[in-house]
Amino acid sequence: MIPARRTIVLPVPPRRGPPDNPVLVTLGKKIFFDERLSEPPGTSCASCHDPARAFSGSHGSRIGVPLGSRPGHFARRSTPSVLYLRYVPAFYYFEDDEAPAPEPRGGFFWDGRSDSLADLARQPLFNPDEMNAGTPRRLAGKIAGGPYAKDFLAALGPSSDPQAILRGVGLALEAYLKSDEMTPARSKYDDYVRGRATLTEQERQGLEIFKDRRRGACSGCHRMAETSTDPAESMFTDYGYDAVALPRNPSLPGSRNPASFDLGLCERKGAKIPSSDERFCSSFRTPSLRNVAVRDSLGHSGVYKNLREVVAFYANRAVAPDRVYRAGKKFDDVPPKYRRNINIYAPVYNRREGAPPPLSDQEIDAVVAFLGTLTDAPFVKAAAAGSAPVAQLPPR
Ligand code: HEC
Ligand code: HEC
Repeated sequence: MIPARRTIVLPVPPRRGPPDNPVLVTLGKKIFFDERLSEPPGTSCASCHDPARAFSGSHGSRIGVPLGSRPGHFARRSTPSVLYLRYVPAFYYFEDDEAPAPEPRGGFFWDGRSDSLADLARQPLFNPDEMNAGTPRRLAGKIAGGPYAKDFLAALGPSSDPQAILRGVGLALEAYLKSDEMTPARSKYDDYVRGRATLTEQERQGLEIFKDRRRGACSGCHRMAETSTDPAESMFTDYGYDAVALPRNPSLPGSRNPASFDLGLCERKGAKIPSSDERFCSSFRTPSLRNVAVRDSLGHSGVYKNLREVVAFYANRAVAPDRVYRAGKKFDDVPPKYRRNINIYAPVYNRREGAPPPLSDQEIDAVVAFLGTLTDAPFVKAAAAGSAPVAQLPPR
């Protein structure tokens, strides 16, 4: 029998994968913070994945997606946190007797297009709208001639081939991103499941709504296991994909073209069952909600600036779409032909227009308060200081 609530105290979260290689982790961290690598210099991985914001952020941009190394150049989507990546599975299809068809899961990025941290580092490095690092040769020259050339040699051995150096950069970044340091599990929620902290009345109410299958049912996708002290069981995502139909972000340069849409998963190429299948269009990977209160732009397009707006979106989408979508254009960020992919079954969505909202304002506040318990200790100050003023929804 499984005890209802375990209070076993684990000093260190259980590992996934081999133990840290400290030499490689230290090197990876130096590369992550190296502002010399971009063109022009000044932008590192940490410029967007800002440690003060739990390794997410906008690099000074206010439109929802981060600024690259050059003025006027923006990444395509909002910046996810790069904490807890140790637990992200490679892209696969989940099969279940109850599911009508295999369900896509896992992979890195909002559309799951990469399975390897070591390989994906090339994308931000050479993306002209992100770090714009130029050619592998140019980048390799900076690594070989830089302040940590000796660490590189010690960790990865001698090499003069730019492709081999680039592989080494990827391996070091991967080691850092998967390290214990990037897997803190030091939130109030973690302390609560370890039996070391008590939730406030409001946080507890938020948790109940979050789990309740007939109300928020948030944990149906943002998976958690209160009865386990293993943080891997409570990443607040099942790494699945869903078409939530957030409203369009009018501030993005691409939004000016009414025919342009971000189709998410179905833009991904090379999967066994083609993920370019139209069924997957407009679906995005369910993000982990750990440290979500510290983020400054939410959703794949960064359309929302604070957490309350997102929770209010869930409460209003079905019953009061006019409060969610501009000019009454319901589902305005999903092309009409893919609107059948939008999830209308989750308990927050399956009400008719005009029905009472599934969550009251006070309950929305409770869910927001609960989500605040997912902030790891080092970022609690940033969460209190950094969040944007709460934007009010138009009156009913
Ligand atoms: C200009 C801002 C910017 C910079 C600089 C940047 N990133 Fe990112 N990063 C992003 C954005 C935006 C995404 C989401 C892209 C997407 O999903 O299509 C992302 C996604 C990621 C992911 C996937 C996370 C997940 O949950 O799937 C990883 C890993 C990552 N970046 C690592 C890095 C590394 C390593 C560097 C430095 C070599 C770096 N990034 C530099 C903006 C940036
Ligand atoms: C059917 C699956 C599903 C359910 C149920 C669900 N979510 Fe989500 N959630 C997602 C997906 C997918 C996204 C990303 C949507 C996008 O960017 O297009 C998301 C995004 C979010 C975000 C933004 C996070 C970020 O880093 O940008 C928050 C906050 C959030 N959900 C909270 C909740 C809450 C609270 C509930 C319950 C009221 C809930 N979700 C229910 C799938 C779900």
